[in-house]
Amino acid sequence: MSLGISRLSSLLLIAAYASAYTWPNPQLDELESLLFDQQGYNERGILVGALNPCDRFNFGDTVNRSNVADWIRTAYHDMATHNAEDGTGGLDASIQFEQDRPENAGNGFFNALRHLQLGISRYVGVADFIALGAKTAFEQCDGPTIPFRGGRVDATEAGPPGVPQPQESLDSHISSFARQGFNQTEMITLVACGHSFGGVQHSAFPDTVPLPADVDDVSQTFDSTPFNFDNNVALEYVHGTTNNPLVVGHNDTTNSDKRIFGSDGNATISGFAADSDSFRTACQSLFARMLDTVPSTVQLTEVIEPLPVKPQDIALLYMGDGTLRLSGQVRFWNVAESNAPSVKLIWADREGKTDSSYTGVLGHNDQMVASVLYNGNVSALWYNIGPLSTNFTVVNETVGISKFWFEVSGGDSSIKTEHQNGVGFPIQDTVMLANSSCTAPAPDGLSSIAHIQIAVRADAHPSRVWLEYDLFNGDAGSGATWITVNTTDAQLATNQTQADSIYELWSVDLPSSALASSNTRKVNIAAEIGSLKITTTSFSTSTLAHC
Ligand code: HEM
Ligand SMILES: *[C@@H]1O[C@H](CO)[C@@H](O)[C@H](O)[C@H]1NC(C)=O
Ligand SMILES: *[C@@H]1O[C@H](CO)[C@@H](O)[C@H](O)[C@H]1NC(C)=O
Ligand SMILES: *[C@@H]1O[C@H](CO)[C@@H](O)[C@H](O)[C@H]1NC(C)=O
Ligand SMILES: *[C@@H]1O[C@H](CO)[C@@H](O)[C@H](O)[C@H]1NC(C)=O
Ligand SMILES: *[C@@H]1O[C@H](CO)[C@@H](O)[C@H](O)[C@H]1NC(C)=O
Ligand SMILES: *[C@@H]1O[C@H](CO)[C@@H](O)[C@H](O)[C@H]1NC(C)=O
Ligand SMILES: *[C@@H]1O[C@H](CO)[C@@H](O)[C@H](O)[C@H]1NC(C)=O
Ligand SMILES: *[C@@H]1O[C@H](CO)[C@@H](O)[C@H](O)[C@H]1NC(C)=O
Ligand SMILES: *[C@@H]1O[C@H](CO)[C@@H](O)[C@H](O)[C@H]1NC(C)=O
Ligand SMILES: *[C@@H]1O[C@H](CO)[C@@H](O)[C@H](O)[C@H]1NC(C)=O
Repeated sequence: MSLGISRLSSLLLIAAYASAYTWPNPQLDELESLLFDQQGYNERGILVGALNPCDRFNFGDTVNRSNVADWIRTAYHDMATHNAEDGTGGLDASIQFEQDRPENAGNGFFNALRHLQLGISRYVGVADFIALGAKTAFEQCDGPTIPFRGGRVDATEAGPPGVPQPQESLDSHISSFARQGFNQTEMITLVACGHSFGGVQHSAFPDTVPLPADVDDVSQTFDSTPFNFDNNVALEYVHGTTNNPLVVGHNDTTNSDKRIFGSDGNATISGFAADSDSFRTACQSLFARMLDTVPSTVQLTEVIEPLPVKPQDIALLYMGDGTLRLSGQVRFWNVAESNAPSVKLIWADREGKTDSSYTGVLGHNDQMVASVLYNGNVSALWYNIGPLSTNFTVVNETVGISKFWFEVSGGDSSIKTEHQNGVGFPIQDTVMLANSSCTAPAPDGLSSIAHIQIAVRADAHPSRVWLEYDLFNGDAGSGATWITVNTTDAQLATNQTQADSIYELWSVDLPSSALASSNTRKVNIAAEIGSLKITTTSFSTSTLAHC
């Protein structure tokens, strides 16, 4: 009975903060994609690709090692230096600078980081990726769903040490977890939740795990099912059948799981052995707390829920013939392909007025379907802004566009308007890429150079127009990575042949150094008008015409 109530209340808790944000929000849009665009059309792949299947290990052939276990351990060790009293430390990617410490023995952090670092952008740093990685690993491999917040801030140097080690006393572990913000029951729980995955390597802990003949390394697992979440770690401990090297290790000094699990007379761990649902619920809430343990100066976002209707890569292109081309995509969440609705695009002009001619159709085919890996029942349908024969919609530049929305026709011939609670989906038509932009060989004959033309509304009078692009930075010594945003200013073009009475043209050359990285990263346009900064979505220079 009490179980039923606690599961119900955790469901209510999730429902209570399930309010979607208002599009656009570049940071939340990016996090939402990483969380929910998992497989299929427009998949982000970076996370689930490495965790599918759960016994996947990309960095060697040691049996019983997995990316999943490395990612979860990385999140814990990064968080474990938190000091709840003074608010310092926590999940802040400081682990990037701390891998040579004895408390961080093993190469699991290096393995996890070189994968997770690949996905970072100006909106989502390494610390958010460590949390995303652990959350995704846990969920993919049979764990409960962990509500996710973003906005972690990456540390730029090592913090104080403080990750618990197996040879320390029970008292020292209790006070270490208290410093991290977890009481004794929570310590037992969190260790059992984490040690449902993976094991101890001989190479990292040679005194704890002996090396059998004829192998280079071995991982002795915490339970008989090291690749998925379940309560076997508790069950096998209580039944006395465990092979957990931190319980049955020949040197009792390093049997920390034995001391921790037994520290309340086995009460907590026996409860988990007897009731796998209570273990799930306890791990769900403590994993969320672990991932949300950040320095007190950091403000995390709200819990990110999938947007029911989500535009992506929405862009206007100035054609120089009196029209603008609106392109991009929109995703409808939790709709089955068998019920694919027909969708109409409707927009309002620059003044906010609409007209029966401000209407377009959206393109969709049965390939444009995506889903979340851990729940195959939730599928999402993508539509292109414009028919599939062109994938764009033409907007008259004289009247312009300020927002759009959708009319969705269901199978029962009902029509639903999707307009973000009346706000609509806003879009600016002040600054945009012009179709006269092109790439040409650079003077050195080897690289190329992008001549970017930007259309700016002639009545806007910007004080500055520029390009922004993400640059990857890395520190060879520590292996730390971070993003900086570089900029290049545009000038009013001397050649205004393509301009008209509504738009003038600005131009700027992207340096070939930037182009090399922006072929994979992306570039966007920004303008300062009064005190307002306006930006476009990013574009890839590889799609530009050759001059
Ligand atoms: C007193 C606390 C803890 C101690 C002393 C401890 C100790 C260890 C040790 C010695 C290893 C072997 C690492 C290797 O061989 O590379 C390990 C692995 C692991 N730990 Fe812990 N741990 C503790 C708490 C936690 C917590 C709270 C979590 C997560 C919630 C966690 C998650 C993991 C995971 C997933 C692995 C497997 C790594 C792999 O197989 O590559 N540990 N732990
Ligand atoms: C730890 O805190 C939980 C509430 O989060 C409480 O139920 C439990 O009794 C506490 N355990 C100890 C040992 O204080
Ligand atoms: C891998 O772990 C399982 C479960 O503990 C164990 O039965 C098996 O012997 C291990 N394999 C190796 C090669 O260590
Ligand atoms: C047991 O482990 C501790 C801590 O690593 C070490 O100091 C001690 O020498 C070990 N004892 C034996 C008998 O190996
Ligand atoms: C806790 O469980 C372990 C493993 O079954 C057992 O060896 C130990 O005696 C138990 N401790 C208590 C206080 O019951
Ligand atoms: C999918 O839906 C079916 C029918 O509603 C249900 O039986 C099944 O358990 C669901 N599967 C998942 C992974 O949620
Ligand atoms: C429009 O997009 C769809 C789906 O991505 C694609 O199959 C089609 O070829 C595109 N059409 C054009 C003209 O690019
Ligand atoms: C755009 O709208 C204006 C004003 O309504 C009209 O005069 C013009 O002909 C239209 N241009 C195109 C290309 O349809
Ligand atoms: C830009 O669009 C206009 C109108 O469709 C077309 O005439 C012109 O060739 C295009 N320019 C480039 C560089 O594609
Ligand atoms: C100005 O641009 C137009 C079209 O982009 C081009 O045809 C023309 O040659 C350019 N004029 C000069 C002087 O560069
Ligand atoms: C970054 O921007 C500066 C100033 O615009 C420029 O000198 C430098 O070459 C840029 N760096 C790269 C790698 O693009």
